[in-house]
Amino acid sequence: MPGFILQARNIRKSFGGVEALRGVNLDVGAGEIHCLAGENGCGKSTLIKIISGFYEADGGELELNGRRFSRLTPLEAISLGVQVIYQDFSLFPNLTVMENLAINMELMDKRRFVNYARMRRAAGEAVAKIGFSVDMNELVENLSIARKQIIAICRALLYGARLIIMDEPTTALTKKEVRSLFQVIKNLQAQGIAILFVSHKLDEVFEISERFTIFRNGQNVAAGNTSELDAKRFAFYMTGREFADEAYAAPEFSGPPVLEARGLSSGNVYRDISFTVSRGEIFGITGLLGSGRGELVRTLFGVQRPDAGTILINGEPVKIRGVKDAIALGVGYVPADRLTEGLFLSQSIGRNIVVSSLKKLSNAAGILFPDKTREEITSWISELAINTGDYERQVKTLSGGNQQKVVLARWLANDLKALILNGPTVGVDIGSKYDIHALLRKLASRGLSVIIISDDLPELLACCNRIVVMREGRIVKELKASETTEARLGEIATGVA
Ligand SMILES: Nc1ncnc2c1ncn2[C@@H]1O[C@H](COP(=O)(O)OP(=O)(O)O)[C@@H](O)[C@H]1O
Ligand SMILES: [Mg+2]
Repeated sequence: MPGFILQARNIRKSFGGVEALRGVNLDVGAGEIHCLAGENGCGKSTLIKIISGFYEADGGELELNGRRFSRLTPLEAISLGVQVIYQDFSLFPNLTVMENLAINMELMDKRRFVNYARMRRAAGEAVAKIGFSVDMNELVENLSIARKQIIAICRALLYGARLIIMDEPTTALTKKEVRSLFQVIKNLQAQGIAILFVSHKLDEVFEISERFTIFRNGQNVAAGNTSELDAKRFAFYMTGREFADEAYAAPEFSGPPVLEARGLSSGNVYRDISFTVSRGEIFGITGLLGSGRGELVRTLFGVQRPDAGTILINGEPVKIRGVKDAIALGVGYVPADRLTEGLFLSQSIGRNIVVSSLKKLSNAAGILFPDKTREEITSWISELAINTGDYERQVKTLSGGNQQKVVLARWLANDLKALILNGPTVGVDIGSKYDIHALLRKLASRGLSVIIISDDLPELLACCNRIVVMREGRIVKELKASETTEARLGEIATGVA
């Protein structure tokens, strides 16, 4: 080990009465990729702001490049090679890429007149260094989020970064963009730059980091080599909760399938799709982007019309012409993007829960029965373990996981036959993810039919009885979850097998 670039010792920080950091430690080796993980609010960003000199710690010590500090100014941090890529990237949108990169050199350079040719060369080199191509004359506001992030990383290089800290850098990226970010991070490492990668996402921590540190409630709970960490322990460290092994076996119910697709086709998007979902069954659909799975789901929910084929509910052919029809037939749909499709963000948690069951809760004149409404709301809050003190608060004050539970509660407050979920735990914290899985299994065991569309294969394996894999618009395979593996599903989805 070539030594540490950063050592934080016993760092404490309070905001008013809130103890954000209660004496935490963090060591980052020179040139290493280190993940700092922990659930929302555990103090990750606060520590970063202390390391970059933005906040002053209430106690403790930092050692950067072998020099000790009990307090650090932002300029000292920068001169020691610390660079933070914040979520907003702090770029100037109305300037070009070149100008954004050059501004810093201009500030660093004490000479009065700026040598543009030299600047252009240095900026070009920084961009090339991380294997990235971009038009230097493009306005930054025209770039995608992923490309803005890369520009912010280039800027960090121009400052002579030795340690680049990325605070939850993948939040707004697509999967493909995450892949290229990881490539950039590996390139940086190859140049001897250490990376502190802040995340609460298990798969990212496993993929990118060599060592990890996990915080919970402003304290260290674990640190070590990532290769020695497994998913279960990670979940335990993050949440302090133990999670049982997940698996679901459907109980036997008789009668026709609750939901059936017969020969559904839509142009070239999907063809000849047939399947049945029984009472109490959890049925998984997976496939790569472009496999047709997303379009199929929209058809099931009446957002998109098929060219051919039939949907049957309880053995009867039905026409689903839109969300209203689906709801009237007892089919609920939890969309992939709860924030734009699922919730009324500025309305209260309670209102969001009962908004689609108002009929049941009001008299003929449309006036709500207050006791009945309160009872309905509180029973769902407790059934789903929604973590809120007060259901009159706006739903947007909840964490992603708790928001998703509110979406679920909304549907469950209607009497449903079937519930279709598209990516039910995307962007959800790990504890809520387990809660949602457990809840789906509980509801199914009581007789609800559930369809989960997901590319999170461990999720499908944990929740489903049967899983179908789609490829190029067709169902290419149906498997029992208990008889297959993640690797096998992945092979089928990509067409390797
Ligand atoms: N500027 C601030 N003022 C008051 N409380 C804050 C401030 N920044 C963070 N906190 C609180 O400190 C705790 C840790 O927050 P943060 O470091 O942002 O966590 P994380 O980045 O791990 O999600 C939280 O309880 C948060 O509400
Ligand atoms: Mg944070």
